[in-house]
Amino acid sequence: MSRVSYVNGEYLDYNFAKVHIEDRGYQFADGIYEVFSVIEGKIVDYDGHINRLFRSLSEIEIKSPIHKKSYYFHIKNIINKNLINNGLIYLQVTRGVASRDFKFPKNTKGSLVIIGKTIHSENYEKAFNKGIQVKIEKDLRWKRVDIKTINLLAPVLAKESAAKHNCEEAWLIDQDGFITEGSSSTAWILKSNTLYTTPLSNSILKGITRQTLIRGLKNNNLKLMEKRFNIKDIKASDEAFITSATQYVMPVIRVDNFRIGNGKPGKYAEIFRKVYMEAVKLS
Ligand code: PDD
Repeated sequence: MSRVSYVNGEYLDYNFAKVHIEDRGYQFADGIYEVFSVIEGKIVDYDGHINRLFRSLSEIEIKSPIHKKSYYFHIKNIINKNLINNGLIYLQVTRGVASRDFKFPKNTKGSLVIIGKTIHSENYEKAFNKGIQVKIEKDLRWKRVDIKTINLLAPVLAKESAAKHNCEEAWLIDQDGFITEGSSSTAWILKSNTLYTTPLSNSILKGITRQTLIRGLKNNNLKLMEKRFNIKDIKASDEAFITSATQYVMPVIRVDNFRIGNGKPGKYAEIFRKVYMEAVKLS
């Protein structure tokens, strides 16, 4: 069976699914997206992602083209039609199609696209066992990255630069020398049995995986501080991690030229992954 995607009310063959050339997502990056993880056919943290989608839409005044309750139905259909056991759902809502004009168009219906993809869990396991390398890049994004917009050129450039240096992720550094987050993930370091991550503000995305892991840490009495960290802190850290809907909890073994711990995933990597997987089951 060929891949099927959802585009504005229709289920279409992935190879022929198209949006209009004057879609505002295409011309202005005027849209919002979400990425949901699928584990054993189940959508992980569904409520967290759908609520963040609606918050993002409301922040940039896009009216959802369908009722909030209908998203679950269409996402489930994409999972079933594409026989996804482990994988992800990419969902995007833009302000719709209109003749190019910066101002919001009147009476335009938003465009909605849902794409499903299978991801083989062996790839995640391999990466987890090895750990990933991170490169530090300037945070050149706009000042409202708490909104999950499709305006992703700065993270694209950061990730590409990281990849050119054999790194899997870029950690973005602000003008004060603090790490905000990863180009597409939340950043964490562990020092003296305490886990650190940047506090929430307009300068980071409120990661749903972050939120779920924090809930799990509290239930397990593990120490957490929502506090900014800089390069000095990274150099002094015992372990480091990223989290996201696609990476869950992933150990970091090198940041630029600094080796983290002994250069292998540390003991907390496995603990935090378990804590996250347990917390997901409860959600
Ligand atoms: N990115 N920070 C940024 C900038 C992100 O783009 C993401 C997710 C996260 C983690 O959020 P969550 O835990 O809700 O996935 C943090 C997705 C996976 C992406 O763009 O592909």
